Amino acid sequence: MQKFVIQGGRRLEGDIVVQGAKNSALPILAAAFLCKGESVLENCPKLSDVYAACRILSSVGCRCEMQGHTVIVRAEPSGKAAIPESLMQEMRSSIIFLGAMLGRLGTCTLGYPGGCELGPRPIDLHLEALRRMGVQIREENGILMCTTPRGLHGARVHLQFPSVGATENILLAAVLAKGDTIISNAAREPEILDLARYLQHCGAKIEGAGSSTIRVQGVKQLTGCTYRIMPDRIVTATWLACAAITGGALQLLHTDAASLEGILDVLEQMNCQCSRDVSSLCINAGKPLKAVRYLKTMPYPGFPTDAQAIVMAVLCKAGGTSVIEETIFENRFRHVDALVRMGADIHVAGRVAVVHGVKQLCGAQVSATDLRGGAALLTAGLGAEGETVLTEISHIDRGYDSPETVLRSVGAKIERR
Ligand code: UD1
Repeated sequence: MQKFVIQGGRRLEGDIVVQGAKNSALPILAAAFLCKGESVLENCPKLSDVYAACRILSSVGCRCEMQGHTVIVRAEPSGKAAIPESLMQEMRSSIIFLGAMLGRLGTCTLGYPGGCELGPRPIDLHLEALRRMGVQIREENGILMCTTPRGLHGARVHLQFPSVGATENILLAAVLAKGDTIISNAAREPEILDLARYLQHCGAKIEGAGSSTIRVQGVKQLTGCTYRIMPDRIVTATWLACAAITGGALQLLHTDAASLEGILDVLEQMNCQCSRDVSSLCINAGKPLKAVRYLKTMPYPGFPTDAQAIVMAVLCKAGGTSVIEETIFENRFRHVDALVRMGADIHVAGRVAVVHGVKQLCGAQVSATDLRGGAALLTAGLGAEGETVLTEISHIDRGYDSPETVLRSVGAKIERR
């Protein structure tokens, strides 16, 4: 098992080119299944979740090849429309292949995704919407068998919550369905817009992606194209947090500053100086960090749940008291125990965490419990005095493309062992 060994307390300084977005690459890889011919997906991060998505595509007869950061998918479905249980278990996001398989093949069998480290992960909104589009769903021993006896058709779908995954699944099913689909209260995350843009390049008719109402006019066929995956805004947030906790100064290149306003606003409240250009961001964190009175995770454009743990790590060293409320996932404070081991003063009551800033964090032996919680401990380790040994880093490899190389290039002392 691999671990990171970090010597903390080094100020980070320099330039980082931000990787492509995992949460965009995964649905776009699923979308490639809908297309005839070849899709060339550039700026794909090298991550275990991306490899798992490629294995799913291969398991249903597609050719999927990774050359550097480009993934080439030739979707030639073998007619097999079942996602192996082992791959479902490996990556919860594999549920995103449901809409794509129904769109291309009209049928799909897959394991029920079940819970994960963040708490229960229901898919009721996905299934309810697909039913409205003509999908019949039978569940037996945790296996979902989905068919479309009278074909897939467009529908009006109102989401009770703007679920990212449900919006993506409906979009994937709708582009090749007969007739029009209107999704109201759709998720507005930038990754939805990226998915829609890729589909539009392939010939799909979609309006309103990125807003709460998305209109899709089903077409007969999609054709693969060359597309560049958007930059990862949560990875950008992580590097900003690493600069903040080390009192550093970083320039982040190839990023999408507009999608980071919620995070930049919080960093500015913390006394960091941030400047943005269209595709780059600078942070200067020379001044003492200040607490943030109240921070609440919300669907986009609110403060992202995926950045909550990472920003909490920085707030541990910010003067004053910060209150963080997690509204999206039930179990997203699992990093708190490890931060406390590193000297943080945090109290959790239900979905609220109260962070009293301390002067110094100290290195410790800690374990990642989930992807972003792991990134929070990495951030804390860089800002702590002494050595941090971070284990269970396979969680981090799900979302960060060689983070130790990136961090070393800006002055961090971190080794993978
Ligand atoms: C996606 C992101 C994840 C991010 C999350 C919220 C990917 C691969 N993952 O996850 O990194 O943290 O958005 O921004 O893009 N819910 C239901 N029923 C459903 C679907 C969701 O109750 O059918 C609930 C979930 O339990 C959760 C909330 O809605 O409490 C948000 O989930 P959702 O937006 O669907 O997140 P994901 O798409 O799973």
